[in-house]
Amino acid sequence: MQNSHIPKALAARKNAYAPYSGFLVGAVLETTDGKCFCGCNIENSSFSMTICAERSAVFAAVSQGYRSFRRITIVGGKTDHDAEHIPCYPCGACLQVLAEFCPPDFPITLVDGVHPLSELMPTAFQL
Ligand code: THU
Repeated sequence: MQNSHIPKALAARKNAYAPYSGFLVGAVLETTDGKCFCGCNIENSSFSMTICAERSAVFAAVSQGYRSFRRITIVGGKTDHDAEHIPCYPCGACLQVLAEFCPPDFPITLVDGVHPLSELMPTAFQL
């Protein structure tokens, strides 16, 4: 049994910059060689410039030369209590980005358990 990355994701969530929505998200993406990349959502006054926590983790990892991933853990909510108890499902854009690098059985851990990527994104776009 792998260690839970929920505490690490909750710590990453503390770095979220979300003054407009008040909804803070944290993600931990683990590479196949065991390195962790954390991400958080970063909002902008030009709202569409906002980046989600999951994509900030993927882009950090890929920018540093990592493209092979073992799992991702995601937490989010307006309050710490919500983040610890209510699952924060990744948005379609983040699932599409994960599908670029990860197989259908890639495990996505939320506070309600583990979901394979194919459950949350059964039909990713393919060029
Ligand atoms: N958000 C994420 O960080 N990940 C998702 O998968 C969906 C939503 C962020 C974006 C925005 O800052 C806030 O949550 C509310 O939509």
